[in-house]
Amino acid sequence: MSRNCALILAAGKGRRMGESINKQYLNIEKYPILYYTIKAFSQSSCIDEIIVVVAEGEVDYCRKEIIEKYDFAKVKEVVIGGKERQHSVLNGLKSLSNCEIVLIHDGARPFVSETIISDAIFYAKLYGATACGVRPKDTIKIKDSSGFSLKTLKREMLFCVQTPQAFKYDLILECHKKVNNEGIKVTDDTMVVEQYGNNVYLYEGSYDNIKVTTPEDIEIGRHILDKLHC
Ligand code: CTP
Ligand code: MG
Repeated sequence: MSRNCALILAAGKGRRMGESINKQYLNIEKYPILYYTIKAFSQSSCIDEIIVVVAEGEVDYCRKEIIEKYDFAKVKEVVIGGKERQHSVLNGLKSLSNCEIVLIHDGARPFVSETIISDAIFYAKLYGATACGVRPKDTIKIKDSSGFSLKTLKREMLFCVQTPQAFKYDLILECHKKVNNEGIKVTDDTMVVEQYGNNVYLYEGSYDNIKVTTPEDIEIGRHILDKLHC
């Protein structure tokens, strides 16, 4: 039996949200954003263990106000994150043991579905590295520094990548250690494996799987919640 572990990242500062508390602890309707995110992985029968990565100084708050309060028994550990997202991921990865497939997910994406989670595991086992996402709805252009359009990209080839991003554990740990040692900056985890020539399979996520980033997203989140009844 494989062991599938979820790494949920909640160690950011949420600067673009502009609130005094980390955005993951803000409510959408009755519950904090991080509650919905952990609930989705807790309820999935495919997930054996969850690690939550939080900011230094927020460990007790997260334990008391989220994990103990809602009785999330699959959460095995709360780990302290790092300065950038990639440092938080590495800290989380190091805390896992006996893991075959790891799903790395933004704590700020509360509406991930069971299908997205099980597909992540399926494709990670098959291809080693995978991420979900959606096709962009807008036309995407490259803009030069003077504000003019340089060119229009082919929409059918573009893909907006979301999380979860799932990997064979040994592969992602090794690649994260390497980018860390080499001082390479990355914005997501698929870039980490691509850096060393590994292929990443992209599968269909959902337009509901938003990352709550700015205050408008809380409003959008309410509508999604209403629709999903979660
Ligand atoms: N994250 C993290 N550790 C960091 C930075 C980000 O664990 N050092 C997490 C965030 O908590 C979030 C996810 O990575 O769930 C995606 O990052 P983002 O949406 O950029 O969140 P923040 O960095 O918190 O927001 P902002 O960039 O607006 O400050
Ligand atoms: Mg950020």
